[in-house]
Amino acid sequence: MKLKVGVIGAGTVGGGVIHLLLNHHGYIKNQTGVELELKHIVEIKSDLLKPYDLSNVTTSSDIETLINDPEIDVVCELIGGIEPAKTFIIKALQAGKHVVTANKMLLAKYGDELCKIAKETKKELRYEASVAGVIPIIKTLKEVLSTTHIESICGIVNGTCNYILSRMTYEGLDFDTVLKEAQANGYAETPPDLDIEGYDTAHKCQILASLCFGMPVPLDKIYVEGITEITHSDVSYANEMGYVIKLLAIVRKVEGEIEARVHPTLVPQNHLLASVRNEFNAVYVESETAGPTLYYGKGAGRFPTATAVLSDLLSLAYRKESPPLPPFNHYHDLNIRDIGLLQNRYYLRFTTKDYPGVLGRICTILGKHQVSISSCHQKETLSYHQALPVHVIIMTHESLESSVQSALTEIDKLDCIVEPTHLIRVLQ
Ligand code: HSE
Repeated sequence: MKLKVGVIGAGTVGGGVIHLLLNHHGYIKNQTGVELELKHIVEIKSDLLKPYDLSNVTTSSDIETLINDPEIDVVCELIGGIEPAKTFIIKALQAGKHVVTANKMLLAKYGDELCKIAKETKKELRYEASVAGVIPIIKTLKEVLSTTHIESICGIVNGTCNYILSRMTYEGLDFDTVLKEAQANGYAETPPDLDIEGYDTAHKCQILASLCFGMPVPLDKIYVEGITEITHSDVSYANEMGYVIKLLAIVRKVEGEIEARVHPTLVPQNHLLASVRNEFNAVYVESETAGPTLYYGKGAGRFPTATAVLSDLLSLAYRKESPPLPPFNHYHDLNIRDIGLLQNRYYLRFTTKDYPGVLGRICTILGKHQVSISSCHQKETLSYHQALPVHVIIMTHESLESSVQSALTEIDKLDCIVEPTHLIRVLQ
C-alpha cells in the first residue's frame, strides 16, 4: 500500500513531517505495511530545506505544481494562518487530493466551509494535529467515543500557557522569562498573543465543541480569557488553598444548551489535570457510557505534532480505496450559553486600602447580589498603613456569574479599591 504525499510548508511542523517521512520511511513500512512516500514540497524559504536530503523529492515555491501533480494522493497544509492556507486547501480538494492539516485557526474560523467542500469533492479533510498535538483526541471523539453522548470536555490544550503557568507555579519564574523560553522551544505561536490571550485555546475549543455536539460552534460565541492577568500572588494564594491555575478549554452540555469557554481556572491539586505540567496537554472527557477518560501527551513542538500528521496519513492510506469519511457531521443547532448564566464557584482577589469597614462594605455588596462567601483571607503586609494596598481573597460558594460580575462592578467603584478585582473561576 502506498500513499504519495505533498507537503506545503517546512517550518516547525512541516519540517518535522519532512524529517519523519524521509527518515522513518522504512520503519513505517515495516510496522504498518504502508509506504508513505514524500514526493513534493512547496516552500518559499529555500533555506528551510537545506537540512534534508531531497534528491528524490520535487521542491518548488509554487503551489500549482503540487496541486496539478496527478501522482499526489494527499496534500499536507502546514503553513498555518488563514490565507493562503485556505485557498491551498480548497484547491487541493478540488484537484482531487485528500488534505491533512494542523491549522486550528483556519478550522475554527472556516472549518464548516472547508468540510462542505471536502464532502462535495468526495475527499477527506483530516486534522488530528490541530488539537493537542500528538494526543489522538480527534480520532477518539470521531471513532472511539462516537457511540456515546459526550457530557463535558476539560482540556489543557495550549502548551505555551501550560508551560508558563507551570514554571510560575513550581519555579517562581516570571511570565516574560518563561514566555521567551516557550518561544525558543518552538511551542509558541507567532505572535504569542494567540497563546497567552487564549485565542489558540479557543480555536481548539471550537473544534472540540463542534465535534462533540454535531454542530458548527461560532468562534465568537466562545467566551475567551487568557493568562496575562495571572500574577505570582494568584499562583501562590491558589497553592495555599490547594489549587493550581490552568488555562482550560471547557465544553459542556447544560440544560439542552452548550457551554464553550476558555479561561484560567483553579484546579484542585488532587484533580488529574493538576498534574499536567509544562508543555504537556491533557483532555479530560466525561461521557454517558464510558464515564471519565483522560488523554495526555505533548501538545506542541515539532515531532509530537508531526507524529499526529503522520497518523492521519496512515489512516488515509488504510482507507485509500474506501469512500471518504465525513470530516464532521452537522445534525444539531443548539444555543451557546452566555457566560453570565454560568453557575460556578469563584476566586476573587481584591486589592484594597486597609481601613476600618472595608471588608464589611465588600461583603455587603456581595451579599446584596446573592453571592455567598465560602472563605475570606486578608494577607498581612510587613508594614501597615491604612493607605497601603492589601490583598483580600474571597472564595465564593456556587453563584451566578452575572451576579458576581454586577457585584464586582459595584465594588470596584468603592474609594478603598485600588485596582480592578481579579476573578478566577474554580473547576467544578
Ligand atoms: N502554540 C500552540 C501551543 C502550539 O502552545 O500549544 C500547538 O498548537
